[in-house]
Amino acid sequence: MPAKASRRKNKRNPLKVKKLKIKKKAKEQSLGVTRLVRKYWRQRYDLFSRYDEGIELDEEGWYSVTPECIAVRHAERSEGGVVVDCFTGCGGNAIQFAAMGNHVIAIDIDPLKVALAYNNAVVYGVEDYIEFIVGDFFQLAPSLKGDIVFLSPPWGGPSYIQSQKFMLDMLKPKDGWSLFQAAQRITPNIIMFLPRNVDIDQVAQLSWLSSPPLDVEIEENYVGGNRKAITAYFGDATN
Ligand SMILES: C[S@@+](CC[C@H](N)C(=O)[O-])C[C@H]1O[C@@H](n2cnc3c(N)ncnc32)[C@H](O)[C@@H]1O
Repeated sequence: MPAKASRRKNKRNPLKVKKLKIKKKAKEQSLGVTRLVRKYWRQRYDLFSRYDEGIELDEEGWYSVTPECIAVRHAERSEGGVVVDCFTGCGGNAIQFAAMGNHVIAIDIDPLKVALAYNNAVVYGVEDYIEFIVGDFFQLAPSLKGDIVFLSPPWGGPSYIQSQKFMLDMLKPKDGWSLFQAAQRITPNIIMFLPRNVDIDQVAQLSWLSSPPLDVEIEENYVGGNRKAITAYFGDATN
């Protein structure tokens, strides 16, 4: 039957449309796509262009991974040195930093995230350039060395956008000031990935935690014309 005719038939046959919807839902469920992540699953190729080659994410990973085109922008600020990715998650940023020729120290407190990040790094063929560590960034920070520190802390789940202004003390697991100070012990060259509704004045004030104040550059990040996030670059990570 020609495609047009079959579509017309579906329109007239609500039972068939319902069956198709149930089939689609079953397929999504078999892929671990829960109600919460359905919206993000539709954006899977924005998150990882090689999604179909074996990328794996847990529920938090779906809504917290950095979209690939933004992760590439972050990585473009590095110069083939050592990058400390303090909140690696499922590896969206670590993979792009490694692909840019850096040695990446990838830390996450959740062992499952580190396992997923490793799997995803294998998909991109960069696992040999990443040192995967399960641990608490705040405990590890004093012993770490690097040329760039990348901070992509939890924003507190998808509800972050409901606040009119996202304040730095809403970041997890500690406020943005504590986070920035811990990062500064490693290097002043810091990249911080933040919600699009973050209070920009507060972000700029972070540069004053250093004396003399660090250079700071703030960038808006878009995916497909939609404003997704804000990135703040400090020290030599600025352009
Ligand atoms: C927003 S996600 C990172 C996403 C990552 N940039 C990506 O593209 O996949 C934040 C991660 O921080 C981790 N995390 C939370 N507290 C931590 C801590 N104290 N030390 C290290 N990682 C932590 C969480 O397990 C979560 O995976």
